[in-house]
Amino acid sequence: MCGGLLSGVVYNLLVIALVVEVVVGGFFGDEGKGSVVGYLSLKDNPAICVRGGVGPNAGHTVIYRGKEYRMRQIPSGVINEKCRLLIGPGVLVNPNVIFDEIKRYSIDPRRVGIDRKAGIIESGHIDRERGSKHLKDKIASTLSGCGEANVDRARRKLRLAEEIESLKKFITDVPEEIWEAIDNKKTVIVEGTQGTFLSLFHGTYPYVTSKDVCASAICSDVGIGPKHVDEVIVVFKSYVTRVGTGPLPGELSWDEIKRRGWEEYGTVTRRPRRAAPFNFDLARRAVKLNSATQIALTKLDILFPKTAHVRSWDELSKEAKDFILEIERRLGVPVTIIRTGPDVGDTIDRREHV
Ligand code: GTP
Ligand code: IMP
Ligand code: MG
Repeated sequence: MCGGLLSGVVYNLLVIALVVEVVVGGFFGDEGKGSVVGYLSLKDNPAICVRGGVGPNAGHTVIYRGKEYRMRQIPSGVINEKCRLLIGPGVLVNPNVIFDEIKRYSIDPRRVGIDRKAGIIESGHIDRERGSKHLKDKIASTLSGCGEANVDRARRKLRLAEEIESLKKFITDVPEEIWEAIDNKKTVIVEGTQGTFLSLFHGTYPYVTSKDVCASAICSDVGIGPKHVDEVIVVFKSYVTRVGTGPLPGELSWDEIKRRGWEEYGTVTRRPRRAAPFNFDLARRAVKLNSATQIALTKLDILFPKTAHVRSWDELSKEAKDFILEIERRLGVPVTIIRTGPDVGDTIDRREHV
């Protein structure tokens, strides 16, 4: 069976105690958080899936039953119709993006709640970013207005969601909703954005986003303290990708990326993603910075094509198993969720098989 760090005793306890799980990126974003949150939102049946993080600079992809969701604002728990979809007070909201997602994916608007204190991105923020050579050329920002809106928030002149008439029907107190769910022993999934090394504090400054995006910041974004968190799941891709500028240790040439079949394009900007092999030094740091209790590993099928669509540990090739066991050994954290294809169902859940 699984071997590695998992033991039946440890994991049975973990399942019973599971209430609040936080999912964050361990590299430079685009690790596949959307697909991991999508899987958990079906499997763990959360009452709430709540987005922390920066705002609509993110692009999370979920593919379920042949339908592809590309979400910039609404949480990836969208695919479980019983799940309430919340956006925390620390997150920036572009109302146009919200309305577009609700319409495009036929989301019942009664499922969506935006905290009254969420900050609002206005066209002026986007214009200012588009006019900034520094952001465009040096930082390779997504130019979605997030950084400029956060500047206004720090200046205490940003408008908040409660002031926007068109958002009125979505306005709620997100921390209150989460605390109530926790008190009633319901599961809450907290979805982060970007990745550890795009954090304003812990990343490769200045080539970073406009906020901290590690697990503790994501919790703060939605209004829960560290003692409410049961599991921190750090998501790693089986190799490392980065869009835009900034250091990427072990970076491969585009020819080599293509030869390995690792080519990818950004969800929001469609820019080609730079790539490098899995980096244990970065991963170890991400585990520490986020206090990871579990690791989710995505795109194993891209690294080892024989693993495509495999849904049980036993069916994995030896080299794939060895790679996972090496991650567990070197990082000291169990790899519990393994993704082997684009569909949410292409997942090995080792929480069950021990
Ligand atoms: P986050 O921003 O972290 O949510 O990631 P993303 O959704 O931007 O990730 P990415 O662009 O890497 O994922 C986009 C595509 O990869 C989507 O079509 C996903 O369904 C797909 N995907 C996710 N996990 C896997 C996987 O394990 N294997 C394969 N082949 N595709 C995957
Ligand atoms: P900004 O946050 O849009 O200003 O972008 C700052 C940096 O973070 C740029 O290098 C972007 O490419 C990167 N970035 C921001 N959001 C994401 C994301 O969701 N995935 C990957 N990179 C991102
Ligand atoms: Mg993305």
